[in-house]
Amino acid sequence: MTRACFVEIGYSSYKPCCGKKHILFTSYFIRFQRFCCSNVQLSTRKPIISASGETVVVFGGSGRLGRRVVGELVKQNYRVAVGGRNLERTKRAVQERIDTTQYSNLLEYFEWNVNEQGRWFERWSSDTVKAVVAVIGASGKSLLDVTQPYKIDYLGNRRLIDATRAWNPNCPFILVTSLGTGKPFTGFPAALLNLYGGILYWKGQSEKYLIQSGLPFTIIRPGGLERAKDDFGFDHKIRLYPPNTQFSGSVSRLQIAQVIADAIATPELSLDKIVEVTALFGAKEIPLHEQWKRISVVTKRQ
Ligand SMILES: NC(=O)c1ccc[n+]([C@@H]2O[C@H](COP(=O)([O-])OP(=O)(O)OC[C@H]3O[C@@H](n4cnc5c(N)ncnc54)[C@H](OP(=O)(O)O)[C@@H]3O)[C@@H](O)[C@H]2O)c1
Repeated sequence: MTRACFVEIGYSSYKPCCGKKHILFTSYFIRFQRFCCSNVQLSTRKPIISASGETVVVFGGSGRLGRRVVGELVKQNYRVAVGGRNLERTKRAVQERIDTTQYSNLLEYFEWNVNEQGRWFERWSSDTVKAVVAVIGASGKSLLDVTQPYKIDYLGNRRLIDATRAWNPNCPFILVTSLGTGKPFTGFPAALLNLYGGILYWKGQSEKYLIQSGLPFTIIRPGGLERAKDDFGFDHKIRLYPPNTQFSGSVSRLQIAQVIADAIATPELSLDKIVEVTALFGAKEIPLHEQWKRISVVTKRQ
């Protein structure tokens, strides 16, 4: 009932149609609901499919999004090869998220660095790898070095794309970029991010490189990730939008990890598409497979 008092007026904002008391009540109601249900939702989410035997290679698995991606994938019974530039840090990051005793037989780790050309793929047989996921990115730790977006978000992804294509040109490649990459200089407020080393521009260049590479791909452009915690999904439901339509909004890293896992599980719905992802407060849940169907395939010559 209370939720019905909120009316959607845009992609990320809501206007209450009744008074302040309802807003306050709703806020407490949601906190109470989160308190009661948070552990239940995180632990009982059912796998979309059982994908025993197939491997997904994740680059950037030590990151805050990367470790959640690994978590969602092992829950679906994928084998996950987790790449990180520091093996111990990567293992620790994954262990923070996942009961590694339960999933140890599904996890392997390897060291790589974005600056190396690398031949990371030679250890796997190409027919057992379901997808490659790239969730690397210049982080806040390197804000003073404005060349990081060029080196990591562009050159780093480009090297991963080249290496994947040389190894198996039919391997799906999932690239995470950001809202605003399609309009890095005009898509405000997202375009403000570009002040940091032209990060949206360079992410956009890596998208173009991937599209032109000929690899099957899915490009995922998340909204802001900093505000939303793992329980965001209780009252904010995932929405997938076509490219260049969203320039604000939030979504949690866990929700993006769920979208990535879903994209890998349903290549027939997700391949060769660009999606912008945010989460809407008070909206109803729409199954991702329905949402993928509404996104058009990108023509490779874009
Ligand atoms: N934050 C936001 O609001 C937001 C919004 C939209 C999109 N995004 C994008 O979403 C992605 C994930 O974000 P996040 O916040 O989860 O990132 P994060 O926690 O900062 O993780 C970044 C990952 O990139 C890796 N990396 C950085 N430099 C590297 C190098 N030279 N060699 C190898 N790996 C390197 C890091 O490895 P180490 O652990 O070794 O450093 C880490 O695994 C990024 O592409 C980000 O730009 C973020």
